[in-house]
This record gives sequence, structure tokens and C-alpha cells, in this order.
Amino acid sequence: MAHAELTRPEGAASDWTIPQRWDAYTPQEHATWDALFARQARMLPGRTAPEFLQGLDVLRLSKPGIPDFEELSDRLMKATGWQVVAVPGLVPDDVFFDHLANRRFVAGNFIRRPDQLDYLQEPDVFHDVFGHVPLLADPVFADYMQAYGEGGRRAAALGVIDRLARLYWYTVEFGLVRSGEGLRLYGAGIVSSFTESVFALEDPSPNRIGFDLKRLMRTKYRIDDFQQNYFVIDSFEQLLDQTLNTDFGPLYTELDGQSDIEIEAILPTDRVFTYGTQAYARAKMPA
Ligand code: PHE
Ligand code: FE
Repeated sequence: MAHAELTRPEGAASDWTIPQRWDAYTPQEHATWDALFARQARMLPGRTAPEFLQGLDVLRLSKPGIPDFEELSDRLMKATGWQVVAVPGLVPDDVFFDHLANRRFVAGNFIRRPDQLDYLQEPDVFHDVFGHVPLLADPVFADYMQAYGEGGRRAAALGVIDRLARLYWYTVEFGLVRSGEGLRLYGAGIVSSFTESVFALEDPSPNRIGFDLKRLMRTKYRIDDFQQNYFVIDSFEQLLDQTLNTDFGPLYTELDGQSDIEIEAILPTDRVFTYGTQAYARAKMPA
């Protein structure tokens, strides 16, 4: 993910990449990856989009532990022309968009501490690689991510990154997709989280409503806890088709005059899959 005001750390190249230094990981760091991987891999069948489960195979490399980005990139390159490059952490928006537009996914090279298995603030290599890379092996999603990068450059030039960021948030990070057997997870923020991968699909608290581009770009989101609302796409083809074939220029202008929609709101025009009780969020509200 990207962030606006950051200074490039010493040792990072002008595109913010750094060597992954796979040999420098400790046995304990590899063990953390293996533990997280095993736990999520057990959790995800029956909950996750088939495209994601298929893509998980690109992560099964010749060595156990944290994937070596070179070997991973070779695999991914053969599948969809994507690569994974290491960065120290969050990078500026323009750098992030440039990498995506060139089919390079930026991943933090550090891994969380053993006492942070369930939650951490900044995306680490487990979130970035386990969460994001499997879908980059899917041809349709791979094209969506590149198009998003191109759209990001354009949004940056127009000063409307915040609007486009909502699209990333509600699809790439926290998206759900319909399947023949019900809703399935695909957002990286969900599938890399032990607790949210159950909450997002099974908890009665959040709303789950049909993907609608304009509506989505007016909707606020929260970064501090489980989502109160998830947007559901019909398919990755639908997502790619609607975003690629919509000129966002006029859309940004149109949305300029419109108010934001509260996170938990349900509109009469929404295609509702689940009317959430919002019990989880309410229980946490200050009295
Ligand atoms: N079509 C969008 C634009 O005109 C770009 C975009 C494509 C954004 C795909 C997200 C995903 O800016
Ligand atoms: Fe992410």
C-alpha cells in the first residue's frame, strides 16, 4: 500500500526497492511464515475464491519459509508477467502506482514478530505476499492491478487519489466475490488475517452489498478494525470490465459535488446480500 508523506530510507533505490536479502532471515522468521501459512491455508478452503486458492500454488517454492522473491518472480512472470520487488515498508503513492503499472508488486521484506501473529499495524511480508500474490497469478486480476496502477497515476495528476484509494480498499484489500456456493473471500486484508477471514464471511455484524463503482467511491472506510461493510463483486471479469471501461475523469467530477456515505449505511438502491446487525462495531463504541 502507499502513503503520501514519506522519506526514502538510505540504501533504497530511486524506485524505493531494496534487496530482499533472503539469506539474512533467521530460522525463527522463516518459522513465523510457515506457521502463518499453515494456519491460513487450513482456514481458507470453502471460504476463499477458487482463483485465490489456485494462485496459492505459486507460493509453494523449492525452499520452505519466507518466499525468495527471485524465485517467486520467476514463477509469477511465467504465469502473468508480474514480479515481486522488496521495499522497506510503505512507499509514496506515485512510486506505488508506477510499480503496479509496470506489473511489479512491492512487498515489505520484514516479517512480524512472534507476538504479532494476529495483528500488526504495517503490512509485512506475510500480508503482502500471502495476501496479494496468489491473485496476481490470475490473468484477469493481474490485468486489474496493472490498470489500477495506470488509473492511480491519472488520479494523482487530478489530485483525487482519495477516491481511487477507496476502490483499492474495498476490492484489493477487503473484497468479497460471489460463487456458485455463496460468498467467497478475495481481499488481501481479509485472507491474510486469521480473525477477519472468519468475520468477513460468517459474522452477522457487517453489511455485505453488491459492488457499485460510484457508490463505492463515495463510501468511507475504517483502517483500525474489522470492516463494517464489504462490497461483493459478481466475478473478477465484472470488476475488470467495469473499471477498465469506465472513464474515471468525468466520474471524479461528478462525485466532487456529492456527499460521502457513512460506512454502515444501506441505501434503497443497494443490492444487499447481508443486512448487518453492526453488533460488533456498536459494542466497541464509547458509551
Ligand atoms: N479506467 C480508469 C480511469 O479512467 C482506470 C482504472 C482501471 C482504475 C482499472 C482502476 C482499475 O482512470
Ligand atoms: Fe495490502
